[in-house]
Amino acid sequence: MVKPVKKAVFPVAGLGTRFLPATKALPKEMLPVVDKPLIQYAVEEARDAGIEEFILVTGRGKTAMEDHFDHAVELEQTLKERGKMEALKEILDCLPGSGRVYYTRQQTPLGLGHAVWCARSFIHDEPFAVLLADDLIMAEPGCLKQMVDVYSQVGGNLVAVENVPREMTGHYGILDVAQEQGGLARAKGLVEKPDPKVAPSTLSIIGRYILQPEVFRHLDRQDTGAGGEIQLTDAMARTIGEVPFHGLRFKGKRFDCGSKQGYIEANVAFALRRPDLAEGVKAMLRRYV
Ligand code: UTP
Repeated sequence: MVKPVKKAVFPVAGLGTRFLPATKALPKEMLPVVDKPLIQYAVEEARDAGIEEFILVTGRGKTAMEDHFDHAVELEQTLKERGKMEALKEILDCLPGSGRVYYTRQQTPLGLGHAVWCARSFIHDEPFAVLLADDLIMAEPGCLKQMVDVYSQVGGNLVAVENVPREMTGHYGILDVAQEQGGLARAKGLVEKPDPKVAPSTLSIIGRYILQPEVFRHLDRQDTGAGGEIQLTDAMARTIGEVPFHGLRFKGKRFDCGSKQGYIEANVAFALRRPDLAEGVKAMLRRYV
């Protein structure tokens, strides 16, 4: 029997240097796509996948996220008085519920593996999900829901994967595939940011993971890897052989909102899906291209 996934970790302590100066005082994860911050998309995707507890690993200058997931009493009152009930519903619907959201701080941004390790006391001995909010995924059902469904069959560690152009492997964790069937690839190894010449495949890990708590044993070592950072990929690689490790080719479209082009593309794509915006945005784009 596979234990269900009820907790999710959101590492949001990165410096977001590619988005400076916007991210000097504003967390990258609060950047809006159309009218909703990236972190809210991720929390909603997790909620739709059955997640009940949300653990945000934050850092200095990230308090806007704590405010975002809390009541804004004056604003709520003003919206009510002005009869703006739709806007009021919108801001109330995004609240995860009392006692459902936890914050811990990664005091120094030592890497994604270190950020996840900072959440260890909230996880104890349960499987858990990790979502990187800057990978925004347009999918129905959501990417994590697709993963939870497959996870209930295969257990172990499961990550979302997609093919990237070979020249891009140096930006991702890459799977060394033992076998692939029906969109599910069993990995016999993982390499973080390999040179395109030696990458074992082009199947790259994107920002969605379901992990067994054993990964913390490997993160405890605090070994540094590519870029001098404590890499989650390295710790996951060490679990291969202890637990099954699979990559799922999810159905949907990922936008790398950590990059400027990906972020702009996400804004266009999400706006074009909105009935209230699609026509106007289409006409506007035609004027520019
Ligand atoms: P990135 O590799 O995109 O790094 O992190 P970054 O600092 O956010 O952005 P750039 O590259 O400087 O522009 C991927 C995810 O891991 C989190 C980030 O917040 C982001 O969600 N992260 C990364 C941490 O929480 N802590 C870290 O030490 C590193």
